[in-house]
Formats: sequence, C-alpha cells, structure tokens
Amino acid sequence: MCGIVGAISSRNITPVLMEGLRRLEYRGYDSAGIAIRDDNGHMQRIRSVGKVASLQERLDSAPIHGHLGIAHTRWATHGIPAERNAHPHMSGERVAVVHNGIIENHAELRAELEAEGYHFVSETDTEVIAHLLARELDQTPDLPEAFRKVISRLVGAYALAASTPGDPDRIVVARAGSPLVIGVGDGEHFIASDVFALLPQTHEFIFLEEGDLAEIHRHQVRIFDKTGKEVQRPVQSSKLNAAAADKGPYQHYMLKEIFEQPGVVAETLEGRIYKGRLLEESFGYETRELLDQTRQIHIIACGTSYHAGLVARYWFEDIGIPCMVEVASEYRYRHTVVPEGTLFVTITQSGETADTLAALRGAKDKGYLGSLVVCNVPESSLVRESDVALMTRAGTEIGVASTKAFTTQLVALRLLVLAMAKRMGYTEDDLRGYIEELHSLPRQMEVVLGLNESIEQMARSFSDKEHALFLGRGPFYPIAMEGALKLKEISYIHAEAYPAGELKHGPLALVDEKMPVICALPNDPLLDKVLSNLQEVRARDGELFLFSDQEVKIELDKYQSLTLSDIHPSTAPIVYTVPLQLLAYHVALIKGTDVDQPRNLAKSVTVE
Ligand code: G6P
Repeated sequence: MCGIVGAISSRNITPVLMEGLRRLEYRGYDSAGIAIRDDNGHMQRIRSVGKVASLQERLDSAPIHGHLGIAHTRWATHGIPAERNAHPHMSGERVAVVHNGIIENHAELRAELEAEGYHFVSETDTEVIAHLLARELDQTPDLPEAFRKVISRLVGAYALAASTPGDPDRIVVARAGSPLVIGVGDGEHFIASDVFALLPQTHEFIFLEEGDLAEIHRHQVRIFDKTGKEVQRPVQSSKLNAAAADKGPYQHYMLKEIFEQPGVVAETLEGRIYKGRLLEESFGYETRELLDQTRQIHIIACGTSYHAGLVARYWFEDIGIPCMVEVASEYRYRHTVVPEGTLFVTITQSGETADTLAALRGAKDKGYLGSLVVCNVPESSLVRESDVALMTRAGTEIGVASTKAFTTQLVALRLLVLAMAKRMGYTEDDLRGYIEELHSLPRQMEVVLGLNESIEQMARSFSDKEHALFLGRGPFYPIAMEGALKLKEISYIHAEAYPAGELKHGPLALVDEKMPVICALPNDPLLDKVLSNLQEVRARDGELFLFSDQEVKIELDKYQSLTLSDIHPSTAPIVYTVPLQLLAYHVALIKGTDVDQPRNLAKSVTVE
C-alpha cells in the first residue's frame, strides 16, 4: 500500500509534502522519505525508519526547501523496514521515484539492469523503476516520453510519481491498480494517493483513471489515457472537511472512535428512517431499481468489513434472501457461479482496498445485476466504480483497528435488509418493530459505553495471557471473529474465534486454566446451546468472560460477566460489538502497545 504525495509550486513545498505524509500515514508507517529539487538543481533526499514524525525530526535538524518534490510513507512489501528500502528511490542523482503498489516482474527487470551494471542498494521492487527511468533518459531525454517507455515494461499495480533534477518544470505520474489524484491549486499542482492528503491545499481534484499517465506542471496538467491519447478529465470539487480529527479528551483515536459510535450510528440512520418507517427514497432511484430485481446477494469484503458481511448474511437469510459472503482475496481468483438476479455488494470503510476493488472490477462481466458498495469515503475508488453506493457516515476513522466503521456498516446493512424485506412481502407493520430497534440503537450503545470502567477491570485478567478464544453462535459467531480480530490486532495476543458448537471438534484441546474464553450471550434461541458449550469449557477449567443480557440466567461455577441491559434481538450483534472493542482496547493499553498504529498493519490495504 504506502502513501505518495508530490507538489510543484512557486512556494516552498516541504511543509505541503510533510502534511500530506501525516495525512497518509494510515496507509503505512514503517518508514518515510522526501525528495526535493533544491534551488541549485540538486535532488535532496531525506529518509527515515519509523513514522512520519521521525522524518520530521530529521528535517528539523537539516531543513530542505524547494518548489518541486515527491514524498512517501511506506508499508513494507519487498524488503524490511530500513532506510535503504524507504522511498523515494533514486538512480544516482538523476531520478527520484515514489511508488504505491507491487511490480510483479521486478526480479526479471532487476536481473536485466544488473547485467548492464546498474547497482541496486535496496531490496524493493521500486528501485527497478528508478534505474529503468535513468536508463531510458539516456536514450530519450524527454521525461514524459522516457517515463511512458518505462511504464510499458511494468507488470503489476502502481501509482507512481517521478521527477528528475534536470527537469525543474514537471513531475510525471501514472496510475494502474493503485489510487492517485491530482490536486489543482492556483498556479500550483499536487498529487497524492488520496484527496484527504491534499485538503489543506485545495478542494479541486482530478481523478486519474486506470492506465492514465500525466505530466504535472505548475500551471498545467496534461493527461494521457492508456492508448497514449491526450484526454481531459473533469475537475471535481470535494466536499470533505480539511480539519484533521483530533483526539479530544481521549488518550487514543481508537477510544474516541469507540465512544463516537452512538453519534455516528444516529448519523447513518438520519433521513433514512422516520417514525417507524424506512425512507426508501433516501437510497435513490437507481438503488431501488436494483433492489427490485435482486433475488440473491454476493457480499465481498476484507478484514473487519468482511465480518460485517458475515453478520448480514444471517439477516438476509432470515428474510429469505440467499446470501454468499467471501473475502475479496479468495473471491477474485475463484470461478463464481452467479445465479440470475444476483446483486454484487462490497463492504469497505476506505473504498480503496485493493482486493475488494479488484473483485468489483472482475465481477463486472460475470453477469451480476449490478454492484452496490457500502462505504465510508464518498470520493473513493469503490464508490466511483460501483453502480450505486450506500454510505456509512462514520466520519474519518483514524485508528487502524476499525470500530465505528464496523458498527455503521452493520447499520447500513440492516437498512438494506429492511428494504429487501419489503420486497419479500413484509408489510410496513411487520417492519415497524425492527425500525424502532434501529432507532433506539444509539441509546443502547450509550448504555454499554457506561460499562467502560468495568470492562477495564475485566481487561486486567488478560494482560498476562498469550492466547484467547472467542465463541459465538449465529450472528454472534462473526461478532466473536471481530472481537478476536480486535484483540490480536492491537494487543498482539493470539486470539481465535470459533462457532461455539465446533469447540468439541478441536479447539477444546487448547482449553485449560490458562485459556480465557470470551463469549457474548444474548437472550436468543441459541442461548441454551451456547451455555452447554460453556459448560464444556468450565469442565476443562477454562476461564470464562461473558457479556450477557439481563434476562440470561447463567448457571456456571466460575466466570466474570457483565450484563448489558435493554438489548433488542435484531440489533444485538451491533450492541455486543462495543464491549469487545473496549476489552481489546484496555488489554492493549495495559500491555502498552501502539493502540492506534499497531505494528505491521495499515489502515488501508491498497496492495494485493
Ligand atoms: C485493513 C484495516 C482493517 C480493515 C480492512 C479492510 O486490514 O486495518 O481495519 O477492516 O483493511 O478495509 P476496508 O477499508 O476495505 O474496510
């Protein structure tokens, strides 16, 4: 994945690039670097292992100024996080390149260049691009022309920006498989992996299309499509707010985002339900038309968004809609049978996840009715490339471990389920109760957030654990998966989720007095079954941590539990997510990990 940013302006662009990098850090944060053409025509490069803040420290002690430059924040794919692998990559003094994506034929290109005497200093796939461009510039001194020839040699996914100190008037960029936007300023232009990186500079953007190549000048942008023909792409205004979110009174973004959930859930419902009625008009004509024809649903997503899809499957099947859910990285390489009348649904917080985007593109000629994305970022690639979008309104989510994006996805999916229920013959009266339950969701979540201190107490029993088992049945199985994912992501405790009924088929062998077992116990038809599974755990001395409904009577001999009041069945999976998020947060806090930016991870995964 990684984030790239670049600028060409009459002002000093160092602060522009650094602010852009800070805003792109969600895409990776194991090293960062900047290359700026200084006023003497030299390419000055500074790179640093670790977060953008450490690059800033190095810049503070050795400032560089200039009017043209590119920068990068990295999430390691080829080569460990080390300064030599940090971007920008250079070929001697001649060329600087930043890259987001993966060059699949890099080994072959590297061998070719090494045979010609090019010396490689990194293990990255990107360095081949720098040397290829330097080699090409020897034959073809025109930067765009040389760049085009280099691009024709690359196989893989990339958003690229390159510059050469010999050409002070332009940056060249290309996009194939990774996002890239151009920011249009007054006598200045910018490029970045996303709009958010550039919002402090401009609200006017040009979105490059697949295969586009562009020359970025101060006063002009020239874009060429994949056939090499010069094309015009529209300038679009972004409505996003530049203000970078701050943590307010919270110690971490993750905690802030957990506590924002009642508010953003209410936002996501705003204008879509009213007085016990679903306001379907708010979905838009095109979406409603698609839903009218929908007989089954295929849901594709990654990570936490995939878990939202798994919950939704139970909901869709409850109303008689067949539903398949799969992780995008598997789906995209499978031969899927698409029954007539199938709607293709993607779920994604960022709208940029490479596998999900590739799945959408691959689905286009498979005979689906159409595509709908449930997404949190309005100007993202998945929103732009899907037929219709149902937006969550979680606001910017900064913590790498997704929280409010997940619960708002579930809310959006619930709305979709209710819209489909109408088409399956449910009357307005049948649906009224469900809609009231959605309406009271923010209040129920507030009540659960009130348990924060008790959950913090519970978390103390976890800090010395190496493993944890999360159990659930029905829609609470994917909620258990989400609880386990949160715990492993931020506390680095190995956590697994199992359908409670499957315990006896293997995982029970792991249970002893050192194994904490976490379980949500809603008062639903599967309750007795789950309770017997928990008896099996207790019989092996496993330590139980339970979240239950006030009506649930637990007859177990040793457990810690917290009671959640006022839970409605249809929205219970959403409510029960909150204590699991808080549990993971407090365990991570006790363990002293980097809660908002856990090791090895990134917020948005834009590589395969
Ligand atoms: C990364 C993030 C997860 C997220 C997943 C899918 O792994 O760390 O929090 O669930 O990507 O991202 P998406 O933006 O498509 O929901």
